[in-house]
Amino acid sequence: MENTPFKAFLIEQDENRQVKSRMGTLTPDRLDAGEVLIRVHYSSINYKDALAATGAGKIIRRFPCVGGIDLSGEVVESADPRFAPGAPVIATSFDIGVSHHGGYAEYARVPAGWVVPLPAGLDLFEAMALGTAGFTAALGIVRMEDNGLAPDNGPVVVTGATGGVGGLAIDMLARLGYHVVALTGKEAEAGYLEMLGAAEILPRSTIDFDKVRPLEGAKWAGAVDNVGGKILHWVLATMKQAGTVASIGNAASFNLETTVFPFILRGVSLLGVDSGYMGFPTRQRVWERLATDLKPRHLAAVTRTIAFDDLPGAFDAYIRGEVKGRTVVRIGA
Ligand SMILES: NC(=O)c1ccc[n+]([C@@H]2O[C@H](COP(=O)([O-])OP(=O)(O)OC[C@H]3O[C@@H](n4cnc5c(N)ncnc54)[C@H](OP(=O)(O)O)[C@@H]3O)[C@@H](O)[C@H]2O)c1
Repeated sequence: MENTPFKAFLIEQDENRQVKSRMGTLTPDRLDAGEVLIRVHYSSINYKDALAATGAGKIIRRFPCVGGIDLSGEVVESADPRFAPGAPVIATSFDIGVSHHGGYAEYARVPAGWVVPLPAGLDLFEAMALGTAGFTAALGIVRMEDNGLAPDNGPVVVTGATGGVGGLAIDMLARLGYHVVALTGKEAEAGYLEMLGAAEILPRSTIDFDKVRPLEGAKWAGAVDNVGGKILHWVLATMKQAGTVASIGNAASFNLETTVFPFILRGVSLLGVDSGYMGFPTRQRVWERLATDLKPRHLAAVTRTIAFDDLPGAFDAYIRGEVKGRTVVRIGA
């Protein structure tokens, strides 16, 4: 491939160590090392991308870095025989968009071990409508199922319900036959959450999270927690016997002040979910389930698409917690 400049969204640091992001260009010879060169069709926005691009979180570990922890596209060239030129692929997580140039560029070069062949049943757009958010929601569900969660065990609560991970988790759980309860700060979005498959809506305003006892009434067989902090304490205190919690996010807080009572008196399991460094074969197994029995039924309704040039203005709403659903960024499709 010739060394022609292409468009890239660069996250840089100024002389005062302030994070600055801008649309710019890069040439192929400045891409990071890897066996697979990909022409990027789509990327997406995750909360982590917004933290990285705005500097609201210390996400970037190497400046400058092209943002975007997710990408899908077609292989241009590959030193690994598993990936033929023209093959559709997905690459998410690992160091992508953190310390290795990411998906907000027309081209990306990544190690072959980070690349997943696009499974039958998904197209490149759908893969990014899911992105890290969908992968993580599915990984959390798979982990809870491996720990014994089943629809007959009882309701599953999803916190941060209108977010990317939350909405997709609701859709997947409802498809599997779970009774899903959506905890949300956006009461006006009740109709949206019901459309995704939530059986009940629980407005955050109805709960005083400052007054949660070590154990409250036991309600949930499972929980997908995207927010952490006092809300995760409340989740733990309201779990049923042998309930399972997937701890995914920290949209409210990375702190967790709680007691051991849910664990030692109700046998509750608190499972950590790290999409970033989940390797093979689990990574491929989760993507294959995302293309089959976990494929959200309302993926199109959850997703909006923005042009690459509109990317810089899209991050602040994530930081303010105002975003609903998923955002796909059309890069070179
Ligand atoms: N562990 C992993 O591998 C992994 C992977 C992906 C994402 N994550 C994390 O998972 C979380 C969700 O990611 P996302 O992409 O879905 O983010 P998102 O689209 O920005 O959604 C987050 C949602 O959390 C709720 N929320 C925001 N601020 C809150 C606050 N102060 N208190 C309580 N709830 C609040 C809001 O939903 P409501 O208004 O409906 O309550 C918001 O829509 C993030 O913390 C992200 O970093 C972790």
